[in-house]
Amino acid sequence: MKATAKAHPNIALIKYWGKRDQKFNLPAVGSISITLQEMATVSTVEFQPDLKDDILILNGTKAKQIESKRVSNFLDLIRAEASFDFRAKVNSENNFPTGAGLASSASAFASLAVAGSRAAGLALSKSKLSELARRGSGSAARSIWGGFVEMKIGERSDGSDAVALQLADENYWDVGVVVAITSEKYKNIGSTKAMNDTARTSPFYGQWVFSSQKDLEEMRSAIFSRNFHKVGELSEFSCLKMHAVTLSARPGIIYWNKVTIECIECIRQLRKNNTAVYFTIDAGPQVKALCLSKDKNLVKRTLQKIKGVKNVIINSPGSGAEILNE
Ligand code: PMV
Repeated sequence: MKATAKAHPNIALIKYWGKRDQKFNLPAVGSISITLQEMATVSTVEFQPDLKDDILILNGTKAKQIESKRVSNFLDLIRAEASFDFRAKVNSENNFPTGAGLASSASAFASLAVAGSRAAGLALSKSKLSELARRGSGSAARSIWGGFVEMKIGERSDGSDAVALQLADENYWDVGVVVAITSEKYKNIGSTKAMNDTARTSPFYGQWVFSSQKDLEEMRSAIFSRNFHKVGELSEFSCLKMHAVTLSARPGIIYWNKVTIECIECIRQLRKNNTAVYFTIDAGPQVKALCLSKDKNLVKRTLQKIKGVKNVIINSPGSGAEILNE
């Protein structure tokens, strides 16, 4: 009744922003991501018959109630599937800042889906694991897979077809994702609330949803033809479009800080000087620079020089979530 799993976060190149259903956590748009190898969450889940409540230890300390509740709700799904009611002790550790727009919820819930289902004695397919991980966090559905991954919107109301699939594995393309950390604080507005506020109040939300189909098609074909400039250009476009729609909510949601903007300018300057590098940014102030592997050290050195950049992590395309031991 105990298992440990490791999962990596992912960064969306075509962004997920908006839900078509809250209960099953179904996305309003599809998304395409790349899994990040050097960043990881390792989670251990142990169901214990004599435990009264679930216990969550996050990065070595007892988690806040809001985080414990979210994990308990997630474990309820596994308990229902396994037809038992044992509480669990969960230990989860990230080797990077938590809740700061670095996709820690993606790697957390992907690792919990894999460890939790195994500890409960369930043998779930990758597709079922992706469906389960999605209930914890939409982007977690993608972290079940390595490499380049597409999350489908799906059509069914129970979400059984709203799952991620692999477009190309982690060895397909020698690219790098250089992550510049500009703040290690928790983000001021969580992605669920921000998405729902955006959907309710932004005059541009309908167009965001409508236009995503074309972005997905173009990104898929850019990845399949290994057209790096096209992948990069589409990534910046989808990122800026997502932030434009959040900025246009009422009140507007601003995830960036001034160092975020400096990183964007620095990346565009590198590009002017003929280094193929493009940025993307999730629901937080961190900047992820997508480049060819041969340029990742140059990109790291350049971003590191910006005052206010706290840390820079180089990533290669990462592997899917996996069991570490039983
Ligand atoms: O998985 P969530 O609910 O934290 O939402 C993730 C949203 C973005 O990171 C901003 C975009 C994405 O596709 O990962």
